[in-house]
Amino acid sequence: MPASSQDVLIRPLRYDDVPVVERLSAEGFHALDLETYPRGWPDPQLRAPDRGSRWVQRTRHLLETDPAGCWVATHGDDVVGFATSFTRELMWILSSYVVRPGLQGRGIGAQLLAAALQHGDGCLRGMLAASDDPKALRRYRVAGFEMHSQMLLHGEVDRSVLPVIERVREGSIGDRDLLDSIDRQTRGAAHGPDHEYLTDDFRLVVTERTTGSGYAYVDPNGAPVLLAATNRRTASDLMWEALASSPPGAKLEIGHITSANHWALDVGLAARLSIHHRGYLMVRGMKPPSPYLHHGSLL
Ligand SMILES: CC(C)(COP(=O)(O)OP(=O)(O)OC[C@H]1O[C@@H](n2cnc3c(N)ncnc32)[C@H](O)[C@@H]1OP(=O)(O)O)[C@@H](O)C(=O)NCCC(=O)NCCS
Repeated sequence: MPASSQDVLIRPLRYDDVPVVERLSAEGFHALDLETYPRGWPDPQLRAPDRGSRWVQRTRHLLETDPAGCWVATHGDDVVGFATSFTRELMWILSSYVVRPGLQGRGIGAQLLAAALQHGDGCLRGMLAASDDPKALRRYRVAGFEMHSQMLLHGEVDRSVLPVIERVREGSIGDRDLLDSIDRQTRGAAHGPDHEYLTDDFRLVVTERTTGSGYAYVDPNGAPVLLAATNRRTASDLMWEALASSPPGAKLEIGHITSANHWALDVGLAARLSIHHRGYLMVRGMKPPSPYLHHGSLL
């Protein structure tokens, strides 16, 4: 076991490391969730294998687009930490970042974050979705990121209040130019190749009206995992469209809602969901995007 950060080597992440790093991330976040979950919530679970394989796919996608943004810390043959980051246009994004529980707080994370941040040299803006780990928050604030609390909506949608939403259609990768243009207007940088990954993984709904346009990726529970729109009215309609697809009885979680997006809290409250806190949106060189619900690792 490395006694200090001097005992580890920081090297680029390799394709074959990704499954090992996935388990490290699952264990790291599970340990953190055990410490930070509110009492009264169901016990946190270790990431399930199906979600693990999606994590592997997403990280390999980032490794293909941004090999210089993805780093591991090793001790001998053991991978003891990693940071994955990428750039889209002039935006740097930290996707994921973990040091093995038991080895945290010894300076390994500082070295990994420095390597990842270097990949963003020349970017004007940066963003990441932070956990509630005080060690992570210390690292990000010291690196100059502004902190914005994230709210989380939780519960079962009250189907009796669902409004009729018109002129929202199913989307596909053929909409990529439109999606990229909405991204530029809301978060200041297109998702570009990430739309290919996202359209494979989630239902996409799109609206194009003279009064506004927008899109949302929706998970099987009806939660929008990424939503961007040119105005709040369009954003609210897209969120209702997502909630309407929630299977009866499903408990859904919509995270990553900043105070710049009270419209989303209002939709959630109208659907009888409850508001909680989880984590922070950290930004540099920009304000929290709006109307916008960011993706946890592709932001
Ligand atoms: C976040 C993480 C990757 C950082 O890696 P690390 O090796 O622990 O980081 P470092 O040791 O370099 O830095 C931690 C800092 O917090 C300080 N620290 C240690 N324990 C602390 C505590 N309990 N509370 C607050 N600060 C603490 C350390 O002194 C250090 O600050 P310093 O460099 O100014 O002395 C790691 O802690 C981790 O995996 N956490 C769980 C997963 C997670 O939250 N990941 C981030 C997702 S956004």
